[in-house]
This record gives sequence, C-alpha cells and structure tokens, in this order.
Amino acid sequence: MTSFTYSAGPARVVFGSGTISALPDEVARLDASRVLLIGTHRAEPARTALGSLAVARFDKPTMHTPVEVTEDALAVLREHDVDCLVAVGGGSAIGLAKALALRTDLPQIAVPTTYAGSEATPVLGQTADGKKTTIRTPAVQPETIVYDVDLTVDLPANLSVTSGINAMAHAVEALYSPDANPVIDQLALYAIRRLARSLPKVVADPKDRAAREDLLQAAWLAGTCLGTVSMGLHHKLAHMLGGTFGLPHSETHTVLLPHVMAYVAPASMDRIADALGVGDAPTGVYDLVADLGGPTSLKELGMTENDLNTVDEHRPLLEEAWAGDRPHQTGLPDVSKLTQQVVDSMHGDSSRTRALLQDLVRTLHSYVVRNDLTESEWMQAISFLTRTGQITTETRQEFILLSDTLGISSVVDVLTNSRTPDTTPSAVLGPFYTEGPPEREHGYDIADGLPGMPVWADVQVIDTHDKPVADAIVDVWQSNEDGFYDVQLPDLDGPVLRARFRTDADGRVRYWSIVPVSYPIPDDGPVGEMLRAVGRHPYRAPHMHFMIAKPGFHTLITQLFVKGGDYLDSDAVFGVKDGLIVDFPEQHGPAPDGRDVPRWSRVDFVFRISEGQ
Ligand code: BEZ
Ligand code: FE
Repeated sequence: MTSFTYSAGPARVVFGSGTISALPDEVARLDASRVLLIGTHRAEPARTALGSLAVARFDKPTMHTPVEVTEDALAVLREHDVDCLVAVGGGSAIGLAKALALRTDLPQIAVPTTYAGSEATPVLGQTADGKKTTIRTPAVQPETIVYDVDLTVDLPANLSVTSGINAMAHAVEALYSPDANPVIDQLALYAIRRLARSLPKVVADPKDRAAREDLLQAAWLAGTCLGTVSMGLHHKLAHMLGGTFGLPHSETHTVLLPHVMAYVAPASMDRIADALGVGDAPTGVYDLVADLGGPTSLKELGMTENDLNTVDEHRPLLEEAWAGDRPHQTGLPDVSKLTQQVVDSMHGDSSRTRALLQDLVRTLHSYVVRNDLTESEWMQAISFLTRTGQITTETRQEFILLSDTLGISSVVDVLTNSRTPDTTPSAVLGPFYTEGPPEREHGYDIADGLPGMPVWADVQVIDTHDKPVADAIVDVWQSNEDGFYDVQLPDLDGPVLRARFRTDADGRVRYWSIVPVSYPIPDDGPVGEMLRAVGRHPYRAPHMHFMIAKPGFHTLITQLFVKGGDYLDSDAVFGVKDGLIVDFPEQHGPAPDGRDVPRWSRVDFVFRISEGQ
C-alpha cells in the first residue's frame, strides 16, 4: 500500500514567446505598481516592458545568495517604496528575489532565463560567513512565473547543458524521494524524457526555438518536482561541494548526477532509463553529458586532490566523480580493479605513448562492459580486423578506409588542421594519393582524352595576408567518369587524372580535367560488409583532391565538391565541408586557352594557406 501527501505549489505560470510583454498586466494582477527589477543585462527586455513601473533596479545578484548582497538590495528596495519584485535571470537573480520576499513579504514575479528551476520551488539557499543554509517555506515561492522562450535562445550551449542537467537532477531525485507521489513521478519522467531529447538539439543549434521551448517546459516541470518533494543525497552533495569549495552550481550538479544515481541505484532506475531511451540510467546520463560536451569530472571544475582528501563522507562516489570515471553500470560486474591493473602495468620512455595506451585500455574496457559484450561478439570483431589486414595491399588500404568510414580520419583532420579559421578547410587524404605524381605544365589535360565533361580548373593559392603564393606545389588527383582512380585500374597505361603543378607568380594554376562524379569507395571487403550491416551506402560526393605544399607553409590537403552533386549530405567518409562545395558552371563558346570544345565547365577557387611548418 502506497501512502502519500501531496500539496501543489500555488504559482501562476505564463509560458510562450514574447510573454515578457505580459509583465505590466502580471504586476497589476498582484495589485502592485512599484517594481524592483533584479537582474544583470539579461533583465533589459523586462525593463523595457515594465517602463515606468520599474522604479528601482538591482543588477548585482550573486551566486549562492550572500546575505550582504541581500542587505544591499534591501536598502534599494526600501529607498524606493517598492511593492513588487521582478527577477530576471538564473538562480542568482531568482534566489535574491526570494531572499528579499522572505524579509519583506513582497510578491514576486520570476522570469527565468536558464533551466535551473528555482522559480518553481519554495526553497531558498543563502550564504552567510561562507556557510550555505537552505530553508523551505511557501513565503519564498514566487507568485508568478513568466517563461519567455525568446529570453533563452541566447543562453550559450555549454550553460544550456549544465543548466538542463541540473533540471534533470531535480526530476531524478524526485523519483526516489521519500515523499514521491504519482503526480510528481509522472512529471519527473516526462521532464527527463523531454530534457534528454531537447538538449542534443539545442547543442546542435542553440537557436532551435522548438527545442528551446521543449527544454524550458521540461525545466519548469523539473523545478515543480524539486518544489514539491524533499531532496536527497544528490542535492546534499552538490550544496556541500558548492559551499565548501566554491564549485560552480550547475556544473557540479552535472558532474555529480550520474555518480549519485549509480550509488543510490533506486528502484525507479528502470523507469529513468526508459525515459532516457537507454539501457542503463547512470551511464546513460554520463554518456549524454559527455556527448553534449559537458563537464564530467570535479577535477575539471577546479576541485583539487587535496580538497577531495578533506571530505570524509561518500568517498568512493566522490573519488569517481572527481576523476570523471564512467560510473559502474548497474547490474554488471565491476571490472575497475582489473582495468586499473592493466593501466598500472604500462611503463615506457615516452609518456605520450603510455598515456595514449592507458586511455585506450580504459576506453576499450569500458566499451566491453557498457555493451555487455559476449565472447562470440568479440571474436567476430577480431575476425573483422584480421580480414581488414589480410585484404590490405600496396594499392588497397582497408584500415584507412575503415578509419574514414568511421569518421575517425575526419576527426583527426579537424583536430590537426582546423585551428586556423582563416585558411581553407582541409579534408581527408583518402587512399588514392600517390607520392610524386607526374609534373605537368599549366594548361595540361590530366584526363588525357578520357571521356567526361571537360572542366577548366583555374585555382589560386594565397597566404593569410591575401598575397599570392608563387612556386607552391599543387598535386591534384581524381577518379575517372566511372568512379575509378588509375591505381584501381591495373590495365591502364601510366598515371592519369593525377598531376603535379607549380603555381606561377600570381599563385595560379590552370589545367584541364573532367567534372568529377560520385563513386563508391571499395566495398567488396570488410568495410563494405560493415556499411551494409548498418544500412549505409558506400558513395562519395563528387570531388577533386588537392595537396598544396610550399616550404614555410602548412601543407593543405583538401577536396573541392561539386555543388548540387549527389551524396553531399551523406558522404561515405564524412569529408564534405560547406566551404569546399563549389560551383562548376557549364560554359559554351571558346575555352580560355583557345581549345575548341563545344561544351565545358569551369571551376574557380582560391586556396588560402597559412605560414608555419
Ligand atoms: C577518396 O576520396 O579518394 C577516398 C577517401 C576516403 C576513402 C575512400 C576514398
Ligand atoms: Fe576521392
């Protein structure tokens, strides 16, 4: 028999887009006319909406609501004979309004711009002499909440993540609270589901209004959970760490949540996993945070090992959270000692080699555990890698193909080559480059009479000061009309559709080729097997390859993609970048070098390369 007591918070909620303009009406509804507006620059739209109703302003709300700051705001409030509080912002602004309401009994309107949920709770945390205390009283609960999605679209992705996971923590804890009840259970699960689906969308596009709306509603529901039932270990630890070590609020919640979930392992965990759409709730939250680029360790929030050593309670949990280890998956054997043993066994002269291998071991062990891998699945993986090696020859590099199709080559490429934003984006090398291609004069036709639509390429190489780079080596290569590179066609006589040019005094190179077409990467080996197993096609979007080198400059390896070509959105090796998609307009009439062709295309492009080694 379940028994519970349920009392709902009395707040009025106005939700939508542009709702900030409802502020004057909402102030009037509270029989008020003299507003103290609390908030930083984020409160500007509210100031405009309130007009002359805003008789005073306090723009220095502070994290953890220090009582000295409350005293300062109290003085402002008294000086202007205020009869209503309007707080715009996150936990600091709303916390300050609550602290003032506690002392004056004035009505409050909260306008949240983050997802922390404080607006929906009768809870106030304040700090005095560095100590944080929390009180729970209906006197601090805002009378009205105005949610305006427009005020949240500028919240940066990283803050949206930590604030959203903070909201998730409210919902998760509500599910194992001693005073959980059916209404709050449903709200909590619904909030978790909506947070999990909207956060990735907001990170992908912070201006996605539909996702922002989803997230803000979820935050309200999660805040309502927090406001209705009492909180447990997670909130206790988060407050302790925030108060004692000054760790940032929502980031600390974000790091702690999966570890506390794994530790508490409540009976509701399956329902949480279900709402998250994962098999295991704690690791699901950890992976979600990691995927969203959020913080996963207390260490990265500035907590030192010495700090950790001063805490007695919940040591194993906090050690895990400090190091940022993935929490141990509920119901599976704990292999952490074995993993540590392997990691500790690694010595060696190069600390980089050691670090890379140690992390590889951790990642692989974790992968095996996370997926509860069977022996036969592992043997299948080993057989796959064995065949990948066996099919590899001088002209067929299946491992590169594997790396390319898993997107790893593109990730390495981004890390290595995308640190100079004002240069041409790079793209993967691919397996068909050959060292020392034949040197050709400008105007040469690298297609050597092969069929295809002729294209006149006129490219220029400049440096980051827009000066032409003369005497740079430009290697070009591409496939034929059927999608094959010369190295794939043993019967072909000599290198074709590949050449080496040198830029002239203007940094330019001009040559004839054929317009590239889409083609499948070799898919008759293990990589093709993998693509078919996951329903992927093997096609590359049509492209030409370039490698541009000159002593004193970073070598640029890149590709140009044909605008409007097939597979630009689903390139098999994830090589397409917006800045590399170019027009190949069809031309009629005489060609630039006087060549007599009735129909031809041209491609013009300026490559910008940067100085350095
Ligand atoms: C290529 O464009 O040549 C290529 C790149 C990666 C894998 C296969 C082919
Ligand atoms: Fe290619």
